[in-house]
Amino acid sequence: MASKSCLVLLALLALSLLVLPGQGYLNQWYPVKNLNDPHVQSFAKSAVEEYNAGLNKTTQYNSLDYLKTVKGKYKYVELDAGKDFLLNIVAKKRGDGSMGNYQALIYVDTFFANSTTLIRFKRLDN
Ligand SMILES: *[C@@H]1O[C@H](CO)[C@@H](O)[C@H](O)[C@H]1NC(C)=O
Ligand SMILES: *[C@@H]1O[C@H](CO)[C@@H](O)[C@H](O)[C@H]1NC(C)=O
Repeated sequence: MASKSCLVLLALLALSLLVLPGQGYLNQWYPVKNLNDPHVQSFAKSAVEEYNAGLNKTTQYNSLDYLKTVKGKYKYVELDAGKDFLLNIVAKKRGDGSMGNYQALIYVDTFFANSTTLIRFKRLDN
């Protein structure tokens, strides 16, 4: 009995340490080394577009123009199919032209031509 639960624990441990060939561990954050990578830039831009698209008439003044990405990390969330990107973005509010720091959590489906889904978008305190 004891050795059985021990085996289960070992199996769970092995799963949690699952290594993707030539990539990295599942669910562990890695820094995005090249923030200017065109793919990373397009993920950040699509996050801002999706955020803008979710605004309605009364919140339209909050819509943003993407300026740049200043920090980023990613993790593998599914075997070979998906990555989460957490990107710190600088954007300008169209309403009053003010610049601000924002953070976007984006799911990128690497299997489906890097299609992106915005999971969370928030303003960071300055
Ligand atoms: C617009 O969006 C805001 C924030 O999500 C919400 O509180 C508000 O009720 C919405 N207004 C309309 C007219 O849909
Ligand atoms: C998806 O994005 C990655 C960077 O995260 C890139 O290496 C890869 O070439 C891209 N694939 C497609 C189909 O654009």
